[in-house]
Amino acid sequence: MKDITKTVADSFSVSSKLLFPKHMNNEGILYGGQHLMWIDELAGIVAKRHCGNEKQRVTTACIESVDFYKPCYQSDIIDMQGFITYVGNSSMEICIETYTGGFCDNKTLVNRAYLVLVALDDNGHPVTVPRLNPASIQEKERYEAGKQRSIIRKNERMFVLEQGDK
Ligand SMILES: CC(C)(COP(=O)(O)OP(=O)(O)OC[C@H]1O[C@@H](n2cnc3c(N)ncnc32)[C@H](O)[C@@H]1OP(=O)(O)O)[C@@H](O)C(=O)NCCC(=O)NCCS
Repeated sequence: MKDITKTVADSFSVSSKLLFPKHMNNEGILYGGQHLMWIDELAGIVAKRHCGNEKQRVTTACIESVDFYKPCYQSDIIDMQGFITYVGNSSMEICIETYTGGFCDNKTLVNRAYLVLVALDDNGHPVTVPRLNPASIQEKERYEAGKQRSIIRKNERMFVLEQGDK
């Protein structure tokens, strides 16, 4: 797969949800765990599409960050958009943004999350993914930022794994 190059647009995906009482927590706002499940699901869709195969096995390696900027309420419609920001060898960094107010100029960003998903072969081992060709200035900036986060993550992981060996 690594000889193939994909654009951000190739895997850009959206998902909308109407919020029912069952999605709320005791504070009467959208339950964060429920929102995270939708975020993870959409990230999986983006990852599979980047690999060019909806049957591609992928797993979530980490949720790098998740920021809840504004609460969401019953009867709100939330719109999530997912796009790939950076790829390593087998890993893909994906950003999921959630908005209320529809896909219009006065929409409100209520949540932004960054996740890393890894493509797996039939034996559950990491497998290379297509390269990413960031086209716009914004995509190139996101790619560079993703690359920096990837370096930090790898160093932190190495440190944690080394500590675990002691
Ligand atoms: C993610 C996982 C497949 C990585 O497997 P591994 O044998 O450790 O493989 P590697 O060390 O070669 O890592 C593979 C890639 O994943 C990345 N990765 C592994 N752990 C990571 C983590 N915690 N955060 C971010 N990236 C991670 C590596 O940097 C590497 O990226 P690259 O190929 O782009 O360079 C494995 O740790 C795993 O299965 N974790 C559990 C996943 C899970 O249960 N998720 C919840 C349900 S979806």
